[in-house]
This record gives sequence, structure tokens and C-alpha cells, in this order.
Amino acid sequence: MQTRPTLAILGGTGALGSGMAMRWAAAGYSVVIGSRSPEKATAMAAEIKTGNGAPPVRVDSNAGAAAAADIVVLAIPFSNHDATLDEIKDVVAGKIVVDAVVPLVPPKVAVVQLPPQGSAGQIAEERIGSVARVVSAFQNVGAAKLQGGGPIACDVLVCGNDKTARESVIELVVAMGMRGIDAGPIANAAAAEAMTSLLIGINKRYKVDCAGIQITGIATEAVV
Ligand SMILES: NC(=O)c1ccc[n+]([C@@H]2O[C@H](COP(=O)([O-])OP(=O)(O)OC[C@H]3O[C@@H](n4cnc5c(N)ncnc54)[C@H](OP(=O)(O)O)[C@@H]3O)[C@@H](O)[C@H]2O)c1
Repeated sequence: MQTRPTLAILGGTGALGSGMAMRWAAAGYSVVIGSRSPEKATAMAAEIKTGNGAPPVRVDSNAGAAAAADIVVLAIPFSNHDATLDEIKDVVAGKIVVDAVVPLVPPKVAVVQLPPQGSAGQIAEERIGSVARVVSAFQNVGAAKLQGGGPIACDVLVCGNDKTARESVIELVVAMGMRGIDAGPIANAAAAEAMTSLLIGINKRYKVDCAGIQITGIATEAVV
């Protein structure tokens, strides 16, 4: 059997990152939570139940977690995106870096306001794409859905310039209980990131916390 990659989740103490850690640890992945606070990370790791023989969730600094993992996931606020990319650049050579960051601009988070570079994913590609394989994903799944158990009625758009890296991330999406959709190159990450603001607005207007997207016209067997 192929060895599963070790996953680092930077910002793994947060709403999205902790939900990811819970789902992947339960699916049997070895998970390292990256955080600026050892105490906060240790408390979060203690709450997470592992499955399928996976070891307990470990904790480290953001750079330490990135160095220890095969695949590094960014689940930190956009305000610290550039600084975190610079912090990990030296330890992610050859690795897949999954960017879940959405460039929301408070207070109007329900209005699409993408950065001049096009998207957070494209910023990551510009800053670390020369050493790492950047994949953009998870912008359209609410953290609350990940915190619950069972399959999630939501598709995850997966963008990146390396097809093999996209396929690896789609496997991680499936392990979480969702469908991963190959959405093409990193330039397309702008569409997924823009969609988040639409979903936030839809949540507010329809008084729900779970609006998401599903792509029609593709048989589930074709994407998992
Ligand atoms: N929440 C969602 O439903 C959702 C869905 C899709 C995408 N996203 C995107 O995923 C990212 C994380 O979202 P979230 O809701 O999980 O955010 P969050 O809970 O506010 O923050 C996540 C973690 O980032 C770290 N962090 C906070 N401020 C920081 C700063 N100034 N510098 C460095 N690290 C900082 C914190 O970890 P430590 O204090 O432990 O370092 C925090 O626990 C965002 O870019 C968001 O747009 C969120």
C-alpha cells in the first residue's frame, strides 16, 4: 500500500483548519497543526480524534509544520498570506502547497474584491511557485460543514498548474467526504475565491450558514 502523505495545516487552530485536521486525522492521515501559539495548538490537537491507526495530531510552528510535512495547507487569514508564504518558502521545495486562503476585504466580505494579481492562489504561485507546486482549493466549503461528521453535499474546485498535484489534492478532498473537481490552472482560482463572497452574501440573505456549490453534469464516479 502507498504511504499516505503527512499533512501540515498552517492556521490549523482556526475554524477552517481545525475542521480539515479533524477530517484528515479521522481518515487516517498523519496531521501536524502549524500555529503561532504552542498552547493553542496543543489544546486543539488534544480535541482531535484520529482514525485508521493514524498517530495523534502533532503541533509545531508554521514553518516547523511545513518542514515536517509532505503537503502543506494554508488556512490562515489573507492579511498574513504573504508573510506566511515567505516564512515557508525555504522548506517547501518540491512539496504541494494547498492554498485555501480567500482574499476577503473587511468589512464588505460579501462583495468580490480580488487582489491586483488576480487571486490569493496566483499570489502564492508568484511567491513560491518556483519551488513548490501550488494548488488552490477549499474556498467554497464552510468550516461548520467540516466540523460535522459524514459526507458533505459540497464540491471543491481544485486549481493549479501541475495536474498531478491537483490529483493529489482531489484525493484529500475525497478523504474528507466531498467531491473534488479538477478546475484547471491556477489562473482559475480567481473564480473559486470570488464565489466565496457570493456564498457569504447568500448565507446572510437566506439566513443559513451552509451555502455551497455543486457542479452538475458530471457523474460522481468520474470525479472520485
Ligand atoms: N472559515 C471558513 O468557513 C472558510 C472557508 C473557506 C476558506 N476560508 C479561508 O481560510 C482561511 C482561514 O479561515 P478561518 O475562518 O479558519 O480563519 P481564522 O479562524 O480567523 O484564522 C485561522 C488561523 O490563522 C491564524 N492567524 C490568525 N490571524 C493571524 C495573523 N495575523 N497572522 C498569522 N496567523 C494568523 C490563527 O492561528 P494561530 O493563532 O494558532 O497562529 C487562526 O487560528 C481564510 O483565508 C479564509 O478566508 C475560510
